[in-house]
Amino acid sequence: MDNKEKNNLSHLKELLSEHKVLYEKEVYKYLKSFICNRFGLEESSCETDDILELAELSIAKREQLIDEGKLSEDEAPNLCSGASTALSKKILFLITLEKNLNIEFLPEDIPYIRTIKDICQYILGRQQQFIKKSITSDDVLLFDLPNNKAVLKENLLNLDKIRSDFPILKRTIYGKPFIYLDNAATTQLPFTVIQAVYEFYQNYNANVHRSLHFLNRKTTALLEETREKIQKFINALYPFEIIFTKGATESINIVAHGFGEVFIKPGDEIVVSEMEHHSNLIPWQEVCKRKKAYLKIIPFDDNGDLVLDVYENILSEKTKIVAITHVSNVLGTLNPIKKIIELAHKKNIPVLIDAAQSIRHGIVDVDDLDCDFLCFSGHKMMSPSGVGVLYGKKKWLDKIPPLSYGGGMIETVTVYDAKFKKLPYKFEGGTYNTGGIIGLGAALKYLEDIGFEKIRQYERALIYYLEEKLSSIMGIKFIGSPRERMGVVSFIVENIPSDDIAIILDEMGIAVRSGHHCALPLLKHYNLNSCVRISPAFYNTKKEIDTLIEVLLRLPNIAKK
Ligand SMILES: Cc1ncc(COP(=O)(O)O)c(C=O)c1O
Repeated sequence: MDNKEKNNLSHLKELLSEHKVLYEKEVYKYLKSFICNRFGLEESSCETDDILELAELSIAKREQLIDEGKLSEDEAPNLCSGASTALSKKILFLITLEKNLNIEFLPEDIPYIRTIKDICQYILGRQQQFIKKSITSDDVLLFDLPNNKAVLKENLLNLDKIRSDFPILKRTIYGKPFIYLDNAATTQLPFTVIQAVYEFYQNYNANVHRSLHFLNRKTTALLEETREKIQKFINALYPFEIIFTKGATESINIVAHGFGEVFIKPGDEIVVSEMEHHSNLIPWQEVCKRKKAYLKIIPFDDNGDLVLDVYENILSEKTKIVAITHVSNVLGTLNPIKKIIELAHKKNIPVLIDAAQSIRHGIVDVDDLDCDFLCFSGHKMMSPSGVGVLYGKKKWLDKIPPLSYGGGMIETVTVYDAKFKKLPYKFEGGTYNTGGIIGLGAALKYLEDIGFEKIRQYERALIYYLEEKLSSIMGIKFIGSPRERMGVVSFIVENIPSDDIAIILDEMGIAVRSGHHCALPLLKHYNLNSCVRISPAFYNTKKEIDTLIEVLLRLPNIAKK
């Protein structure tokens, strides 16, 4: 917002708060000037008073400027407010007014606010009633859903305490309380994790497994302790089966590269599913290209459940590995991976599990699953980013070559050759992200101290509540409705681009994700390029979901059922 706009609105706000008798003409003057400026239009040439028409003019002007080379495609200043349709621009305009004038347009009234004059009347008629809402911790959950009642009435998690553990949740965005519902993309960090990383850099910073001085020994011990913590957490047999990586993507690439090199021949087959994140798809596509092998795809039905009959039929003596996600990052489907692994093992086929979305729910037990490889990222379980884990059974890790060669991973070197260290170090070439690894250890401790079972129960209740609330809105179309869902709910609203919805929510301080979620084949199944994804975590509240729903109810084409 430029200064001129700010002055205009601040002045109008002052006038409104003085409770003076204001004339409609006066308010109109400010609003007209503001909307024209916001939409990049010359006030003198705007004859119409209709907000949608002004928005259309703004879109046309933007296109004209792009055609004339005066504006580039990715520039979206005042002309556009970031939204691409007239309806979305109208909503954004109303939201901007709300934020700056401290007023609130009731969702049911929004369709009837068509002109600047309507806004004037609305403001003047309701001047007294509008009070800014904020979220407080006593909004802690009390759900009505029968199966959630007991869980939520107990206030099982002490949400006040938990929310105060996460410094970022105290901040505001554009003056609104921050509501973070993008936990499938990355989770926020509790203070104990931030402090552990801070302490490492302040007191122990050294390059692990290199020197013999005090700091180095201390840091090396911390890193190896974390390895053991992770080993216990996922119930691996040995600490050396835990390899530290940059994240799930790197872990999958290590396996795809190494396994591909040794075990894949021309004509072989690799099985993945139609719902994979690109990180568990593209590395396998590349192996297939390199080795002249074939990718076989397990389909899913419209509910978002894998079609296991097809899977069973796909498996053959040509299948060399199955790589599959535990929980879908778009549908939230909790896949029956134990069954998937059993079926593959019957034919001696190893299985890689992408646990990026499941790891923070504490449901991974590699011994029980009997998986051959498992990958995850720390940043999806309250740890810093840039750190992750590859678990692999010793029998496989021993046989596959590393992806990264260099310092730290060698036993001996001559100018012509090198002998690599044993597990896990042969896969850990180069300097570690030690701060990140120590942060991962602290994150695990934080989650364990709360208790995974409690976290799961609470989050399940939150997801049910979110689904129930979204189902009560006409115009919302869910993407998938799997038998067992974890962590995410995705949807579209007909005729409103998902990015516009995300931008509108953002304007209200609510962070969600829109787009293809790095799962384009999954979206293509539904003939979509984009959808909105809501992914709550245990620090979110029922009240935050209610606020989300209130904002969604302002969108055009949406109404309570
Ligand atoms: C299911 C799944 N797999 C893999 C990844 C890749 O994780 P990273 O980017 O942390 O490597 C993600 C990230 O969103 C994911 O959701």
